[in-house]
Amino acid sequence: MRKVVISFFVLCLFFSGQSSLFANEPDSAYIFVYGTAKNNYHNGLHVAWSLDKHTWHPVGPEHSFVKSDYGPWGAEKKMFDPFLFRAPDGTWHCVWSLNNEDGAFAHASSSDLVTWSRQSYPLVLSNGNCLEPMIAYDDTNDVYTISWTSNKGQKQAYFVTTKDFKHYSTAKKTTSFLPKKEKVTLPDGEQSGTLHKVAWHTVDNIIKAQQLAAYKAKLNSERMTDDGQRFHDLKDVKATINVRKDDTRQISDLLVGIFFEDINYAADGGLYAELIQNRGFEYSPDIRKEWNSLTAWNAYDAYSKLSIDTISPIHINNKHYVTLEATAGGGLANEGFGGIAVRANEKYNLSLFARAPDANTVHLQIRLEDANGKAIGQTIIKGLSKTWKKHELTLTSSATVKNARLVIQLQQAGKVNLDMVSLFPENTFRNHKNGLRADLAQTIADMKPRFVRFPGGCVAHGNGIDNIYHWKHTIGPLEARKHQRNIWGYHQSYGLGYFEYFQFCEDLGAEPIPVVAAGVPCQNSAHNGHALAGQQCGIPMEEMGDYVQDILDLIEYANGGVNTVWGKKRAEAGHPEPFNLKYIGVGNEDLITDIFEERFTLIYNTIKEKHPEIHVIGTAGPFYEGTDYIEGWKLASTLQIPYMDEHYYNPPGWYIHNQDFYDKYDRSNAKVYLGEYAAHIPSRASTIETALAEALHLCNIERNGDIVAMTSYAPLLAKTGNTQWNPDLIYFDNTEVNPTVGYYVQQLFGQHAGNAYIFSDLQLNNSDDNVRKRIGKSIVRDEVSGDIILKLVNLLPVEVAMASDISELAVDSENVKATILSGTPADKDAKPIDTKIDLNNFKLQPYSLTVIRFKEKK
Ligand code: AHR
Repeated sequence: MRKVVISFFVLCLFFSGQSSLFANEPDSAYIFVYGTAKNNYHNGLHVAWSLDKHTWHPVGPEHSFVKSDYGPWGAEKKMFDPFLFRAPDGTWHCVWSLNNEDGAFAHASSSDLVTWSRQSYPLVLSNGNCLEPMIAYDDTNDVYTISWTSNKGQKQAYFVTTKDFKHYSTAKKTTSFLPKKEKVTLPDGEQSGTLHKVAWHTVDNIIKAQQLAAYKAKLNSERMTDDGQRFHDLKDVKATINVRKDDTRQISDLLVGIFFEDINYAADGGLYAELIQNRGFEYSPDIRKEWNSLTAWNAYDAYSKLSIDTISPIHINNKHYVTLEATAGGGLANEGFGGIAVRANEKYNLSLFARAPDANTVHLQIRLEDANGKAIGQTIIKGLSKTWKKHELTLTSSATVKNARLVIQLQQAGKVNLDMVSLFPENTFRNHKNGLRADLAQTIADMKPRFVRFPGGCVAHGNGIDNIYHWKHTIGPLEARKHQRNIWGYHQSYGLGYFEYFQFCEDLGAEPIPVVAAGVPCQNSAHNGHALAGQQCGIPMEEMGDYVQDILDLIEYANGGVNTVWGKKRAEAGHPEPFNLKYIGVGNEDLITDIFEERFTLIYNTIKEKHPEIHVIGTAGPFYEGTDYIEGWKLASTLQIPYMDEHYYNPPGWYIHNQDFYDKYDRSNAKVYLGEYAAHIPSRASTIETALAEALHLCNIERNGDIVAMTSYAPLLAKTGNTQWNPDLIYFDNTEVNPTVGYYVQQLFGQHAGNAYIFSDLQLNNSDDNVRKRIGKSIVRDEVSGDIILKLVNLLPVEVAMASDISELAVDSENVKATILSGTPADKDAKPIDTKIDLNNFKLQPYSLTVIRFKEKK
């Protein structure tokens, strides 16, 4: 066979059709479809092809056409014994075994073996497992039979029947189970799988799909660290911008917001200003095996006895409290979240609940101690009672100390119960009680975020249905809030709860965007005692009515009058005025399964019916392509969801080579909320390279601000030494706040947002596409201030001499302000610098973002 080889780019151009680029091709071929044990069974479904069943060509070789999405990363998401079957209508059905435990198998289908449907995991054998599943078809009855073996207990084969791969008969035993697998020797060994004769174009399509994926991966892997070689002879780059003043487009005025998730100790020990760790004595080994109710607490001396009790607690949601039994001077101490940071002459509000059997004789001395045990603030609590009583007082610190501790001592020998021991700086953001850390909150405020998405992320849908975030558990008196295991492996006190989130949004002048689970937990959830792993289960449908009501109650809590049940609770918390909620996110990058769709649709339709004024934001999975993305967007069209939340964490190369990503979006469909994104490099640091890739993306998003309504970088906060995820926008410890380079990009776009995009042309003296793609631009008008803002990104290692033809804009040249963020690609410390600029003639520094703001002459 003579093959005419043509350039890869032309090949890609022809990819979509069935037209072949090869002359003298066969009509048909064989494909062998198999899975391997490589990477601990995580590599999914592979295909090899052959014309003669002797010489086999693996496509890839390790290319996965579909991967298992079942359960958590690592332990699950494995594919054992895939079995592919072609239905009479041409649809390919694949079933595989999930693990050795569950009585479920996986099913997915495809029309071309390249694009795969949503997966399902029917639970067919509750007391067994499903090994070596296979499919047969009975054309007399038009029914499929799935049979498998189970080796849990006694080895036994079973089968179920189905007409649609959604509804299955009850499992029955069979004695005629005969796995129909073939063995084929591939270049790296013998594999077992299924063999099919197919039309050549099917094979051709498969080969091209793999080649396209490999090509895209190569583009995505483009790194600025290789620029020395890539652009070794590049010099004298000149660019001219021609502004088309009257060619404008209205764009969203909510483009840059923030995504707040309690990850990396962002809430307790972070933004939430509480200084006492484990104030409610609710830590437990269920959260972290080395934790217990006394974590972060210590007996003050060898004679002080601490024990944990649960009899008659202050609130049923806060069951544990400490009993301190000691002689005079004995007590307990809290070390805070890695030390308590206090400042000289600042006030700290202390509160605690106490109960003492010998109330009359016991007084408590409260001391702030530095690391040497020296008191730097103290006070006394007298008048304990025999029933729980809340005591509140203020301490002033006499010194600035990073690692103080709070000590509570008995002044006389005795016994006392203590709970909800709390110490707050008086100086919180906007001076709220139970407020937020002022420096951290101010750093966020400086970004001028137009909205706040909360409380997650994965925290919102939780690890298993028992871990779903319920907003009602997070409001009301602090001692009545439920404690919860955080999906990221620590504890949530919910001191920062829905009231505080709404209040923070109000303080920032930002739209609140709460995200509630779509009745399903995180797609990577573990079993947690449920029959099916992870996201593949959901809140039982008979409980969904209550769950949907909770969401309606949330809307009432935010917006209802003070005479409504939930509006009254808001008023009791100190906010009679509504919070003016307009948006609500339902779901977080979930697996789009039938289980998801059923629950999402119920929630969506109910909100639409009862609160047509609320804009629901749906979810399109964790990637910018693939099954969840396709299925999520399909659902958006079917249900006419007004906004869709997209997530992707991509390498810088993706942002460089996908600048037209949103130019391709259908304007009549849902608007996009890019709820989570960031540029990731292998070191997972925020550098000039990642930050400029994000800046480039934001320029392209501003151009598409008619269809992209909102964006938020993720995640926002990380406590140094307590991070589960990198990079984050702002790192902090107990005393310092360290914004990253990526933060400054978000800040510059947030502070210099507009609501009209002005189209322009960029002309370069260099026709190399690689050079052209490295220069980004966006011009917007802020119709409130009347300012024009020009953003230019130079991702090249050389200066770009700029000339701009902006004469049409009638620039007030006295009032041109410029800010430049630049550095080497690996730079993690770059900060924006304000400068002056001559708009007719200026230079873009190598690897830089330049923001120019000016007024138009009236
Ligand atoms: O932003 C961190 C995590 O990334 C979020 O919790 C989740 O939604 C995504 O996978």
